[in-house]
Amino acid sequence: MDKITVIGAGNVGATVANVIAHKDLAKDLILLDIKEGVAEGKALDIWQTSSINHFNTRVTGVTNNYLATKGSGIIVITSGLPRKPGMSRDDLIKTNANIVKDVTEKAIKYSPDAIIIVVSNPLDVMTYAAYKASNKPSHKVFGMAGILDTGRYRAFLSSALDVSPTDIHALLLGGHGNTMVPLPRYTSVNGIPVTQLLGKEELDKIVERTKMGGGELVNLMGTSAWYAPGAAAAQMVEAIVDDQNRIFPVCACLNGEYDEKGVYLGVPVKLGRHGIKEIIEIELDKNEKKLLKTSANAVRDVMKVLDDMKIF
Ligand code: NAI
Ligand code: 2OP
Repeated sequence: MDKITVIGAGNVGATVANVIAHKDLAKDLILLDIKEGVAEGKALDIWQTSSINHFNTRVTGVTNNYLATKGSGIIVITSGLPRKPGMSRDDLIKTNANIVKDVTEKAIKYSPDAIIIVVSNPLDVMTYAAYKASNKPSHKVFGMAGILDTGRYRAFLSSALDVSPTDIHALLLGGHGNTMVPLPRYTSVNGIPVTQLLGKEELDKIVERTKMGGGELVNLMGTSAWYAPGAAAAQMVEAIVDDQNRIFPVCACLNGEYDEKGVYLGVPVKLGRHGIKEIIEIELDKNEKKLLKTSANAVRDVMKVLDDMKIF
């Protein structure tokens, strides 16, 4: 791809940019931040690893200069406050909604055809905000959370089973919050159902730890995670750039799928060059349906806060 833009050069944005560059996914990568010098410095630092790590992606940092982002094929939005201890993802809404609206409008002006991947929290509602601000079809505006959340789930399972994390295949639905729905019924170790390898009690503990996975890191570090979030967003970029048709849990706009309408929620999708090619509806049992409904309602509660802000 000719150009990719990452907005926000903080912990997550710089990491996404670093992984994209290392995978050589674009000729040009623009890292944009509002703080003078931050994006320039981080971009230069990444670019100075190019001869060491053998990549060609030219990484350039800019302060609020949207002209430099002109013609981007993908825009990754990471700008906004991260969570601090004691803060829920939803506490961030008022500040981050204004930021996401502003950067989306500015970026889309110069890259009207871009696919938008949102990372800023609260994720599901910020993705909805970018969708509203961009006026683009929803298959071109979606959010990153499911790859991160399943990444955590798979890491915990890998440790518990002492097997390679790459052999663990897993699915998870719902909002990026404590109501997310990891699905042990759709989790396997190279085809072996995980329920045959781990007892219910241990599996339940791993599911609970996954749901609190973001908070666990906030408590340890005083701010939220970046390595896994950055790698997860870059994996979505790779699926688009290489038209891979990967099946990932992605925060997507539902229009009747899973009996939900007009809400952004994590569901399995097929991801390729034009964005979301298909939302995949899997069979859910009664309890899984109930958990997904609870999660959708939690996202709707946050959407109401956004609606009440009357910025759209
Ligand atoms: P950070 O504070 O390290 O970086 C945020 C950056 O955004 C800062 O450099 C700031 O100057 C910049 N920024 C703020 N307003 C801006 C504007 N109007 N235009 C351009 N840049 C602007 O935060 P971090 O850790 O990188 O997290 C970023 C966001 O991603 C947070 O909202 C966080 O909660 C979210 N997040 C989401 C995850 C997910 O799974 N979806 C995972 C981890 C973080
Ligand atoms: C995370 O899950 C806080 O959303 C952020 O790490």
